[in-house]
Amino acid sequence: LSTAATQAGDVLLFYYVGHGLLSPSGELHLATRATSDLSRGLAAYQAMPHSAVRDVLTTHCRARLIVTVLDCCFAGRAWAPSGRLSDAAFEIPYIHGEYVLTSTARLEQAFAPVGERYPAFTGELLRLLREGDPAGPRELTLDHAYRYLSRALSARGLPLPHRQATDRSGDLVLAANAAYREPMVRSRHEPSSTDAPSPGEWTCPYRGLAPFGPDEAAYFFGRERLTAQLVSRVAAQLHRSCPLVVVGPSGCGKSSLLRAGLLPALAGGALQVFGSREWPAFVITPGARPLAELATKLAVPGRTDAPALQAELRADPHASAAAVRRLLGGADGVDPSSRLVLIVDQFEELITTCADEDERVAFIEAAAASAPGADGREAPALVILSVRADVYGHCASYAPLVPSMEEGQLVVGPMSTGELRDAIEGPARAAGLLLERGLVELLLRDLGADAPAGYAAGRLPLLSHAPLSTWQQREGRLLTLAGYHATGGIRDSVARIAELTYGSLDAADQQIARRLLLRMVQVGHGTEHTRRRVQLAELLGGRTEQEQSAVLGVLRELVDARLVTADEGAVEITREALLVHWPRLQDWIESDRAGLLIRQRLADDAQAWRRERRDSSFLYSGARLATAREWADRDGHCSELD
Ligand SMILES: Nc1ncnc2c1ncn2[C@@H]1O[C@H](COP(=O)(O)OP(=O)(O)OP(=O)(O)O)[C@@H](O)[C@H]1O
Ligand SMILES: [Mg+2]
Repeated sequence: LSTAATQAGDVLLFYYVGHGLLSPSGELHLATRATSDLSRGLAAYQAMPHSAVRDVLTTHCRARLIVTVLDCCFAGRAWAPSGRLSDAAFEIPYIHGEYVLTSTARLEQAFAPVGERYPAFTGELLRLLREGDPAGPRELTLDHAYRYLSRALSARGLPLPHRQATDRSGDLVLAANAAYREPMVRSRHEPSSTDAPSPGEWTCPYRGLAPFGPDEAAYFFGRERLTAQLVSRVAAQLHRSCPLVVVGPSGCGKSSLLRAGLLPALAGGALQVFGSREWPAFVITPGARPLAELATKLAVPGRTDAPALQAELRADPHASAAAVRRLLGGADGVDPSSRLVLIVDQFEELITTCADEDERVAFIEAAAASAPGADGREAPALVILSVRADVYGHCASYAPLVPSMEEGQLVVGPMSTGELRDAIEGPARAAGLLLERGLVELLLRDLGADAPAGYAAGRLPLLSHAPLSTWQQREGRLLTLAGYHATGGIRDSVARIAELTYGSLDAADQQIARRLLLRMVQVGHGTEHTRRRVQLAELLGGRTEQEQSAVLGVLRELVDARLVTADEGAVEITREALLVHWPRLQDWIESDRAGLLIRQRLADDAQAWRRERRDSSFLYSGARLATAREWADRDGHCSELD
């Protein structure tokens, strides 16, 4: 090792595959030919301390980059407990870049499938180097290998690899990609025999403004590293008692990560826990009635009445643990180790949309109580809360959330340039589309990916929307530069699609669209405007059949253009980006701001009145009543109340 290290000029690669052992003090040792007994405690005498290997490799090495790959049990111990590479790397005479790729986490066993020639990690890596990755770039870099391994191993339910890197070491090219599909990125006028003469319809793999869901997992790229991190956090959660918090700025990709990254990984067995593939998983969003949402999901069809469970949870939020156990298989429990995976997405709605403080508190307690109960039994649910960063601070005022905030939440930040590239090229490959040469670079540049601090994480919806608009302008299966320019580029594509959709409606439908969209806006009091979820029944209530079909027709147009999302009987504007980047909508809000605020206040006050058993002291009188009346009588506003 020492000779190799002194001779290395450019890159030094150390690849170890074998037994990883722990000394009594927990230090990683690598077995050698001299290791004849794998019993615990003997490692310190019979095997090589990893720290010694590292010293030998780094002390006299002038290589620009030292790459260590460890395929052994406990390989994650190769770096310092803080998760950073050991500072020792920077105390030695030569400064190297370092890249450490390990087959397992700190306390995990590596896996060698019976009957296979290589351990799982090494086998998959060799497969990648020999056979290539049809969804990969022309050259396979260290980081691509890591992302490929994350995907391939998680699909087989095997331990996920881990990586630590300094600066840009992950860009090191390992090999040419043997399965690279050359025609994927090509010039517009290059003929290709693989093009069908008239390709007709090609599936659009880009989600536009909408989040990715489990059904779109095949088109979800660029978050492999974060998904693997999230899976290990969830695994750690099995033995802890508080919900796991996932936090990041608006639009950074939290919902997509949970729905198209985490859920398929869990279903693929990534947790490495027997039976976990079959664990039920729910995603709920709190909305204005979070307890009702929770009760509906936890009610056992045919056995529990959802409204009764809601009332029970309100009176005693801790009843959620028993409700989860009932759902998992009866009071005795079919399998005591079985869990419910409960994802509360858009947890911030609890603050921004639910106006009832008692209900908020009860919901938080119910979510936290699905963790171990007073009876000391294991937590029946793995609870994961995704929170928008701007509301994160509010969470600290709720005591049950404090442990979650203290115990290491997962932060969803911007993707690296390599990941962004995967996020654009991966879906195209998966859908058999072609990207004109230069398009990816242009998208990345317009997004600001090359800025020193990277792009602002919240701009991801724009990146996702621009390829969708470009797809709408495609030539056959080719997404072109001209098509991208025609959409107005990253910045203007959202406004452009909105304008096109609006412009395609006749005057009467445009009026309907305006009213519908404004009902889906929560006007900010000195804060930014946000989206507001509206029940479809409320939009249609009190209308004639003809009016209802007109409203549904306009909604369909808005949903088809992905400006509005409809699910479970409710509709909402797909993203806040539409509020920011569509001038027409902003004009509408500004010109009717006072009216919108009256309607909002009326809706909140009506809810409070209903909650307080229609207590007459909650009713309007005097000037307030007159203002509300005057508003309701104007322009048919009465029909706009929820
Ligand atoms: N890996 C990805 N590749 C491409 N686009 C992505 C990816 N992840 C998310 N997006 C896109 O980014 C946008 C934001 O995603 P998502 O809704 O998941 O974010 P969010 O953090 O949940 O947003 P919000 O704070 O509004 O809830 C969507 O347009 C989505 O399609
Ligand atoms: Mg979200």
